[in-house]
Amino acid sequence: MSVQTLLLDFSLDPARLGDENGQKTVFNQLETVLKDYIPNLILAAEIKVDGGSLKLLTGKKGSTVAVRLFDRGLVTVNIEYYKEDSEEPLINFKSARVLENQLKKYMTVIKSQAYPPLKRCLFGRYYPTSDERLLEYDIDGVLFDEQSPFQRVQIVHSKTLGNMLVLDDLQNISEADLVYTETLMKRGKENYEGKEIVILGGGDGALLYELLKEKPKFVWMLEIDETVMNACNKHLRSICGDVLEQRKGHNYEIIVEDCMLTVNKFIKEGKKVDYIFGDLTDIPISESACGELWEFMITILQASFKILKQNGKFMTHGNGATSPESLELYEQELTKLKPPVKFSKSRAFVPSFLEDWIFYQISFKTTDNGDA
Ligand SMILES: C[S@@+](CC[C@H](N)C(=O)[O-])C[C@H]1O[C@@H](n2cnc3c(N)ncnc32)[C@H](O)[C@@H]1O
Repeated sequence: MSVQTLLLDFSLDPARLGDENGQKTVFNQLETVLKDYIPNLILAAEIKVDGGSLKLLTGKKGSTVAVRLFDRGLVTVNIEYYKEDSEEPLINFKSARVLENQLKKYMTVIKSQAYPPLKRCLFGRYYPTSDERLLEYDIDGVLFDEQSPFQRVQIVHSKTLGNMLVLDDLQNISEADLVYTETLMKRGKENYEGKEIVILGGGDGALLYELLKEKPKFVWMLEIDETVMNACNKHLRSICGDVLEQRKGHNYEIIVEDCMLTVNKFIKEGKKVDYIFGDLTDIPISESACGELWEFMITILQASFKILKQNGKFMTHGNGATSPESLELYEQELTKLKPPVKFSKSRAFVPSFLEDWIFYQISFKTTDNGDA
């Protein structure tokens, strides 16, 4: 079941919508055509608003049509109705386009646009890109949906991507995203054999699972949310194997707590590792008051560099390639770090993000004699 919302936009000569009479004439033309598509349509309310007018119509099975006439030359038509999955649509995208064309001719429109219906229901099909454009996914079911003490944890099924982890309504990783993990770890270019590695976050287990194939000496995965791991262990086995089930092996351990606790413990012990992976959510969870998001991310980075060997690397995911301002801001923060760091970037199209993503490899800037 869902509420279907169809949107149609028209642009007209502004002179035709400049006063109440003009708006009435255009609306009457529109109403005549709409009546052929939505049975029992009647005008329920007319409201004068600043810069134009709003007309509300009701039709068969509680359908509503909101027509907004803007005196600057725009008319928007929003059609909404309730539909059970088994029911035929009252009006679908194909018929909306026919309607659009008919209205275009009848009303002598300059330009028009009809959009595929938004399907609004109690599980999300829509997720944003990094620059806040709306993406519709072919989700046909929800396999897991729980509020943990930290976030809303969902596993949804997409016909194209397979099972997908969604945290607080943001897509995190799917069964089609090996490229995400391989670009994050720069597989084939970095040598993890015999190395000590820390993963910050990484609750889906995919990074740990792939790193273990590279024969590291030891990997500590520091993940705060038990619920994420339980959900992924059950529904994302193809990307995490049994690492979340076992939690511990001869060369790895998952520590369930805020990653900063173990990082601070390592600092106190003077422990240094070869690689650190920042595989946290875009907005990391903080259990202590930490001010701005940037401040917390910088705190994590600064602390991480204290447990990194001189020739070690901090590898992390950045942001979408369509968000150059955020990437720039992140890079500016990197240049402020002490001791100074240098960085390289890689880029890959991540299927579940439906966009190109930028990944960072950050290391100490060394002087000629090798000192940081
Ligand atoms: C699922 S992973 C993968 C990130 C992902 N690919 C993305 O799109 O952002 C992110 C994990 O970071 C964990 N996390 C966030 N803040 C944390 C913190 N302070 N300490 C440990 N884990 C944290 C979340 O619980 C989550 O499981």
